[in-house]
Amino acid sequence: MTEAAASAPAGAPAESPNVLEARDVRRSFGGINAVQGATMSVRRGSITALIGPNGAGKTTFFNLITGFYKLDSGSVYFDGQAIGGLPSYKIARLGMVRTFQITKALSRMPVIDNMLLAAPDQPGESLFGAVFRPLATREREREITEQAHELLASFNLDKKANDYAGTLSGGQRKLLELARALMAQPRFLLLDEPMAGINPTLGARLLEHMQRLRREEGVTFLFVEHDMDVVMSHSDHVVVMAEGRVISEGTPDEVRADRKVVDAYLGGELDDVSEGGE
Ligand SMILES: Nc1ncnc2c1ncn2[C@@H]1O[C@H](COP(=O)(O)OP(=O)(O)OP(=O)(O)O)[C@@H](O)[C@H]1O
Ligand SMILES: [Mg+2]
Repeated sequence: MTEAAASAPAGAPAESPNVLEARDVRRSFGGINAVQGATMSVRRGSITALIGPNGAGKTTFFNLITGFYKLDSGSVYFDGQAIGGLPSYKIARLGMVRTFQITKALSRMPVIDNMLLAAPDQPGESLFGAVFRPLATREREREITEQAHELLASFNLDKKANDYAGTLSGGQRKLLELARALMAQPRFLLLDEPMAGINPTLGARLLEHMQRLRREEGVTFLFVEHDMDVVMSHSDHVVVMAEGRVISEGTPDEVRADRKVVDAYLGGELDDVSEGGE
């Protein structure tokens, strides 16, 4: 953790360099301490990787900070605002949006509708059958639809726009999941294994997309990834969890050289921890 994060008072100032500060976050399930005192911060504008062995608590940590699970204890600040205990949809509305390791696209709905529903202030019901819609609403619908098709095209999903999401392959669903998250125009995007199950060409495109969003729109990223080559080449900062705690953090090179990190992975082969994900 950075010194700034350690000393930031409750209700950290908005000018804090950190978009996220999570302190001593805890959650157990029955006897399992899934997250046991995780403290970390994410610098605004960074691409931060969250790594750690299977079962380390990464997904649970995502669920806790985005309001999908209740915290047992601890505090979470997004851009200086305390968000611990807020419901997930409110956190998403503030601009902190996450994707799921196991995709959540609505399978009995066409791909394009999945996209439209993910837009902020989307016209909602009016898309489905209202007879009369004010001009401004129709204009907004047109914009959202155009944006949805552009995003689908950038992930090679445009030909699938009218198919049910349930007919997509696993990799295509992951891409749809990311495209949906982008519809919400997040300031802070949390991706849980975005590359798992995606072919290398589209994976590379996804990474380029992340870099471009960071560069052009100042989006901050926190992503969980098991492929160490991706982590090393695409993140500025790496946080390592094991057994529900943060055991190391630093630049990719610092983390790679940290014995604690190597030990945390079975066999100590940090170069060989990539796996299928789900
Ligand atoms: N809803 C739940 N009920 C019970 N146990 C849970 C629940 N969610 C997570 N756990 C447990 O918490 C621990 C951490 O799981 P989590 O999914 O957060 O790990 P992870 O770091 O994301 O692992 P992976 O890399 O395999 O995705 C595991 O032991 C898991 O079984
Ligand atoms: Mg996980």
